[in-house]
Amino acid sequence: MGRVEGKVAIVTGGASGMGAATARLLAREGAAVLVCDLQADKGRQVADAIQAAGGRSRYVEHDVTSEDAWKTAMALTLQAFGGLHILVNNAGVGAPFGNVEDLSLDDWRKVMAVNMEGVFLGTKYGIETMRKTGKGGSIVNFSSTMGIVGSPSTAAYVASKGGVRLFTKSAALHCAKERYGIRVNSVHPGWIRTPMSSAALDKLAESGAGNKALELTPLGRVGEPDDVAYGVLYLASDESGFVTGTELVIDGGYTAQ
Ligand SMILES: NC(=O)c1ccc[n+]([C@@H]2O[C@H](COP(=O)([O-])OP(=O)(O)OC[C@H]3O[C@@H](n4cnc5c(N)ncnc54)[C@H](O)[C@@H]3O)[C@@H](O)[C@H]2O)c1
Repeated sequence: MGRVEGKVAIVTGGASGMGAATARLLAREGAAVLVCDLQADKGRQVADAIQAAGGRSRYVEHDVTSEDAWKTAMALTLQAFGGLHILVNNAGVGAPFGNVEDLSLDDWRKVMAVNMEGVFLGTKYGIETMRKTGKGGSIVNFSSTMGIVGSPSTAAYVASKGGVRLFTKSAALHCAKERYGIRVNSVHPGWIRTPMSSAALDKLAESGAGNKALELTPLGRVGEPDDVAYGVLYLASDESGFVTGTELVIDGGYTAQ
């Protein structure tokens, strides 16, 4: 208990899946958490549950693709909690799917807007607000195993997640060079059971390929949101004080093969 005691965190996409698990875990370990998402009902439920358990949390409706929404979220964090030490850029979309031949430019841009531009804006304004707070900080950006290895049918998704991987290193090196005391790292989940992956996993299971997807995961199971949230907690806490620009893969061994 208390691994992030006294810190203030923002978690984007905090209404669902790994974002919700991360928000709950950071709060349980002592952080005040601003839960950001487009899904107001689910986001409020996460913040309310944290408060009911004795933690500090607020929900704010927030679109990661909007620069104005980022400015508002940062102002709200400073006003409500007095600073910012942890930013988890978790919000993301899997669809529209498509290979390089059938994907339209419009669909490519939709994926990039959330998965890449959202992470860019969050990191930019996160650094600004952490510098104002003056206590350093930790930014954790959600990439994927699909930011490390390719996949034929998700051209935009893998490009966006590969972009997050290297953008994170660029931001980490910049913050280190400037001696801000701000660390920036990426996490790379494999198959994790969340609303985003459930439909795809069910479809794979129906077609018989689902078991194959599991067979390809050496640990032989789909991951749970908490498997990833614990990795984020480590990167968010001072325990990882010498860790920046790294990529934490949480995939049951999938990319070790
Ligand atoms: N589930 C997996 O197997 C898996 C694997 C690797 C990486 N990831 C990545 O992990 C992250 C979390 O995914 P998840 O599986 O928990 O998905 P999820 O669908 O359960 O949660 C994603 C959340 O992001 C929110 N969101 C989407 N667009 C947004 C926007 N423009 N502004 C604000 N919020 C927005 C959604 O409303 C949703 O609550 C994503 O970045 C995803 O790409 C997921």
